[in-house]
Amino acid sequence: MLKLSASLVALAALVPLVASQAAEWGQCGGIGWTGATTCVSGTTCVVSNPYYSQCLPGAASVSPAPPSSRPAGTSTAPASGATSTAKLHTLAKAAGKLYFGTATDNPELTDTAYTAILDDNTMFGQISPANSMKWDATEPEQGVFTFSGGDQIASLAKTNGMLLRGHNCVWYNQLPSWVSSGSFTAAQLTSVIQNHCSTLVSHYKGQVYAWDVVNEPFNDDGTWRTDVFFNVLGETYPQIALEAARAADPAAKLYINEYNIESAGAKATALLNLVKTLKAASVPLDGIGFQCHFIVGEFSGPALQTQLSTFTAQGVEAAITELDIRMTLPSTPALLAQQKTDYNSVITACMNVESCVGVTVWDWTDKYSWVPSTFSGQGAACPWDQNFVKKPAYDGIAAGFSA
Ligand code: G3I
Repeated sequence: MLKLSASLVALAALVPLVASQAAEWGQCGGIGWTGATTCVSGTTCVVSNPYYSQCLPGAASVSPAPPSSRPAGTSTAPASGATSTAKLHTLAKAAGKLYFGTATDNPELTDTAYTAILDDNTMFGQISPANSMKWDATEPEQGVFTFSGGDQIASLAKTNGMLLRGHNCVWYNQLPSWVSSGSFTAAQLTSVIQNHCSTLVSHYKGQVYAWDVVNEPFNDDGTWRTDVFFNVLGETYPQIALEAARAADPAAKLYINEYNIESAGAKATALLNLVKTLKAASVPLDGIGFQCHFIVGEFSGPALQTQLSTFTAQGVEAAITELDIRMTLPSTPALLAQQKTDYNSVITACMNVESCVGVTVWDWTDKYSWVPSTFSGQGAACPWDQNFVKKPAYDGIAAGFSA
């Protein structure tokens, strides 16, 4: 009995210590969590989901838990809506970045309430075509090129004085069947890629800031995607596409664009090795696109910053190319507050890496987001809601550029 009391006294003496710093693998945040919100040295507080953050090993500094880990009801984040009246591209430029931009798509351009916001070049200094420059849209039959959709987006960028990102030359998806199901020799497919990239990039010569020349070449486990390009040409196809693009528009920045490279892992390592190989062989490569299709509460800003630094150390620039942060519906004030934190973390990561040149959201409004049709039950991924009302995420972006 006496022994137990002594133990309790000893335990009580430890409580302030436990509450001040969570141990490795310990909880450090989450909705309703009232314990420690910083981690012991050598670990970082990483959000697992809105309800649970954990101290994970591998980082040198102590990181605070995100604001949403405060007990429910004490959050200072607005439950809905944004308060900032600043314009995002203006803020990005003032912060030294080239642009804040958005994807857009041709069917949306008939929505005048949508275009009234899209056309504001203080809000968006850059646009990307979500679909109309892809292979199925631009060369549906071999040698037959159709640029009407892409031209509409390019002309919008020109009229509004916005930068244009070209998306994309070579991708396993949205290929016409003559490519994806074609039977080619290596020489034939080399010529097909050269003709496609060259014609596409030449058509927009002088109008495009950067091209996603190669899109999503790797599987998540770091192996190459076994699409028609890899199956016929092996690891040589990026070089073929990049060289054709360089010859077609020497002024355009040439990118490889990928997802799930925003934290360390097999896929990021595979891409980093490809970058090293291409640079060592003097293949034209200027940038890496970090798509950043995230889930609320499930990514680490510091990890993204590390990846941006790691890649740009190879002599390429980087851009956040397709940012959105989805949640399981319905949205709640807590999820929207976490989403604000997450958007802020992405902007902060880019801000902290000089060669991260800009940020593009993969459409600015939930009305035209690709997410709900792809991930059942998920959505609300964009900084504006489906009624074009700015969400707390908007404030997170604005604050990130203003810090
Ligand atoms: O064009 C057809 C139309 O004829 C048909 O009536 C309609 C019926 O569903 O489909 C239309 O095609 C759709 C196409 O978008 C154009 O709207 C496809 O079904 C649809 O799957 C396709 O989705 C696009 C998706 O890429 C395809 O993978 C999204 O809009 C586009 O935002 C998305 O963008 C990709 C990036 O290119 C690469 N990174 C990931 C990102 C999100 O998936």
